[in-house]
Amino acid sequence: MTLSYGGEPVLEGASLDVEPGQFVSLVGPSGSGKSSLLRAVIGLQRPLSGTTDTGLPANQVGMLFQDDALLPWKTARENVALGLRLIGVNSQAADREADIWLARLGLTGFENRYPRHVSGGQRKRIALAQVLARKPKLILMDEPFASLDAIVRSRVVKDVVALVESEGISVLLVTHDLEEAISLSDAVYLLGQGPRAHIIQRYDVPIPRPRDPVKSRLHPAFTPLHAKLWEDLSKEVDHRAEEAA
Ligand SMILES: Nc1ncnc2c1ncn2[C@@H]1O[C@H](COP(=O)(O)OP(=O)(O)OP(=O)(O)O)[C@@H](O)[C@H]1O
Ligand SMILES: [Mg+2]
Repeated sequence: MTLSYGGEPVLEGASLDVEPGQFVSLVGPSGSGKSSLLRAVIGLQRPLSGTTDTGLPANQVGMLFQDDALLPWKTARENVALGLRLIGVNSQAADREADIWLARLGLTGFENRYPRHVSGGQRKRIALAQVLARKPKLILMDEPFASLDAIVRSRVVKDVVALVESEGISVLLVTHDLEEAISLSDAVYLLGQGPRAHIIQRYDVPIPRPRDPVKSRLHPAFTPLHAKLWEDLSKEVDHRAEEAA
């Protein structure tokens, strides 16, 4: 896929695959075009050439934006329930489901709060509840766990992995955290330095499922893969520093 903003090239020939039920991560330097690539997949950005075919109806694709897209005039419950109402769930059932998901994400007691009256991490969790409650077939996530504290983060991540594995949901995750990328994914793609960024390499992760995201860091394949990804990502970042010098 080739993508540009007003003639400024961002991605050129960037190509990746997510098989049904696979958890795939996308890592790369800041500004390389990861968020742009996700936006192109859900159709918010039109590629200059190439396609981004998910093979799924729009209501089966969920997106967690880097900046959450909650409606400020709706409460946490109403925001989560709205996602369900849009796929035809009646309002009582939607409210009930919303509360269940908010509870799973540690937000009991916050159901009636407006997004501006909760912390950044709590807002992220409301947005996550909104997407997960709809049980989409494919979820695109743009650094969804970045602002969570360590304990909540490991719980949320564990919940997401369990749900994704049991429901057969495919995930395309953008993250700057290489450990997170490896421990959660079946494959990690490295996007090169922009402009004209393309996929440098795909790394398959041979850690079996079902996974415990914490224990998978102890798997013998983890450390060598992490070292390799770190080295390759560093090269991309250095490459930019050299160009800027
Ligand atoms: N709406 C826009 N209009 C013009 N240029 C944009 C727009 N959005 C992003 N860009 C540019 O496109 C490039 C890729 O941006 P993008 O947000 O996709 O990067 P990213 O890999 O997600 O970075 P980060 O890791 O910092 O989130 C950057 O150079 C950015 O400045
Ligand atoms: Mg981004």
